[in-house]
Amino acid sequence: MDYKDDLGIHLESWTSEGYGQDLKDFDWVEGLVLDVGCGIGHMAKILDIPTERYLGIEPSKTFREAAPDELRMMDGDIHNLPAELRGETVLCLDVLIHLKKQVEALKELKRVTTKRLILQVRTGDPDDPILRKRDHQTYRIHKGQEYLYNVWSPTMLHNILGFAGLKPSMVFNIHSEGIHPTLIRIDL
Ligand SMILES: C[S@@+](CC[C@H](N)C(=O)[O-])C[C@H]1O[C@@H](n2cnc3c(N)ncnc32)[C@H](O)[C@@H]1O
Repeated sequence: MDYKDDLGIHLESWTSEGYGQDLKDFDWVEGLVLDVGCGIGHMAKILDIPTERYLGIEPSKTFREAAPDELRMMDGDIHNLPAELRGETVLCLDVLIHLKKQVEALKELKRVTTKRLILQVRTGDPDDPILRKRDHQTYRIHKGQEYLYNVWSPTMLHNILGFAGLKPSMVFNIHSEGIHPTLIRIDL
């Protein structure tokens, strides 16, 4: 797939904010790790995942090519992952925010996860004035460009996960005001 999104411009300097450090402190990651929408594979380094236990899935050729050579990376779309693909731990960090079909993507993540799914989403107020609303979607401007930016209220979080047949085991840093990165651990 020859894919490039607006975020490509700044992803090379992406810091994964504090959620990478939170994930490291939690020590939730085990076994073979699929990192879906991995960008340039920051998480492998932040979480000290041995290269043989890491597989990054990323539709952007630019990001795959910018990843460290030793990392295993494959092209793929979260909505339609390879039939045989499975991971004990599946990471999907800051990806659902940019998708229109979040429930479809979550069902696909559930299918490929054998033990634990870890999501990073944005929770808070979907009516926050920083967001623009159009066609029942919320958008945000970055560097003059508008892109899809889903923000879940706590009720939406439980509903969206529920529609995908998922029940959170732990939710870290959930908010009903402002916009905040929130980690969700789902044990299957
Ligand atoms: C904000 S970045 C997050 C990167 C990384 N997960 C992190 O936390 O540092 C969003 C990533 O989602 C990827 N992405 C967008 N649409 C996707 C799709 N349909 N399937 C898989 N990944 C996708 C983008 O290419 C980008 O790498």
